[in-house]
Amino acid sequence: MDIQKVGIVGAGQMGSGIAHVFALAGYDVLLNDISAEGLQKAVALIDRNIERQVSRGKVTAEDKAAAMARIATTLKLADLGQTDLVIEAATERETVKQAIFEDLVPHLQPHTILTSNTSSISITRLASRTDRPEKFMGFHFMNPVPVMQLVELIRGIATDGPTYDALLAVVGKLGKTAASAEDFPAFIVNRILMPMINEAVYTLYEGVGSVKSIDESLKLGANHPMGPLELADFIGLDTCLAIMNVLHEGLADTKYRPCPLLTKYVEAGWLGRKTQRGFYDYR
Ligand code: CAA
Repeated sequence: MDIQKVGIVGAGQMGSGIAHVFALAGYDVLLNDISAEGLQKAVALIDRNIERQVSRGKVTAEDKAAAMARIATTLKLADLGQTDLVIEAATERETVKQAIFEDLVPHLQPHTILTSNTSSISITRLASRTDRPEKFMGFHFMNPVPVMQLVELIRGIATDGPTYDALLAVVGKLGKTAASAEDFPAFIVNRILMPMINEAVYTLYEGVGSVKSIDESLKLGANHPMGPLELADFIGLDTCLAIMNVLHEGLADTKYRPCPLLTKYVEAGWLGRKTQRGFYDYR
C-alpha cells in the first residue's frame, strides 16, 4: 500500500524526532498535540536538529527547507483522519494511549495503519481496543530518533502480513534498519537495556560506586557511548520506571523489581534532563 501522509500523536522528545525523520524522507507529516506551545517547541526543535545536520554536511539547505514545509501541526486529533499511517507517541501510560485511540479511531479511513511507539506495553492489548487489530502494530523508535539506526517492529497476535510489509518498507525508506520482536513485555531493546539501567541504580543505591564511577566504568570499560545513569537521565527516569514496572508485572520475576532509589527519584520529580535534575544536575 502507498503511504504518503503520516499522522503523529504527541510532540514530545519521540514525536518530534519521528516527525523529523519522516519529513526528511519525503512524507507529509501532521503532528498533533494537546498543547499549542508543545507543537511550537517541537517545530523549533526539529528546525534546530535538521540545521545541525545541515551544518555537518549531512543534509542540504534545500532538503531542510522542503522537509520543514512538509510538517503541519494540529491540536485536533480528528484531523489525523486524512492520513495513511498514524504513530502514537504520547506518554508511556496505557490509560493515556487507550483514550487517544478511542478518540481517534472513529475519524480514521479504513485503510489507515495504526501504530504505537510504546516502549513496553502489550501491542495485542492496545490493538484489541481499536476497530483494526489486523492493521495495528508496535513501531518503536529509539532516542535520539534522527541518530539511532534501529526501529523495532512488533506484531500483535492479530496483525496481518500486508501491514507488517508496509511498515518494513517505510523503515527502509527512512534509511533505518528494522528488528522484528514478538509481543512480550518491553520487546527486545528494553528487555535488555532497562534491567541494565536498573542494575546501575542498584549499584549506586548499595554504595558500590558513585554516579561518576558507574558511568565511567561502562563508558571506558565496555565502550558504551553513555554511562547507564547518564542514559537513564536522557531517556527520562519516569519512562525507565514505567518500563521496569511492565517487566516486573508482566514477567512476574523479582529480578525485574524497580530499584527503590529509581522510584524515589521519580516521586521527587527528578526525571532526568527534561526536569533538569536526575542522577546529574543540569541546572
Ligand atoms: N538530531 C539530529 N542529529 C543529532 C541529534 C539530534 N537530536 N543528536 C545528536 N545528533 C548527531 C550529531 O549531530 C552528531 O552527528 P555527526 O556524527 O554527524 O557529527 C552525532 O549525532 C553525535 O552527536 P554529538 O557529537 O553531539 O554527541 P555524541 O557523540 O556524544 O553522541 C549520542 C550523542 C548519539 C546521543 C550518543 O551519546 C549515544 O548514542 N548515546 C546512546 C543513546 C541510546 O542508547 N539511545 C537509545 C535509548 S533507549 C530508547 O530510546 C528506547 C526506549 O524505549 C527508552
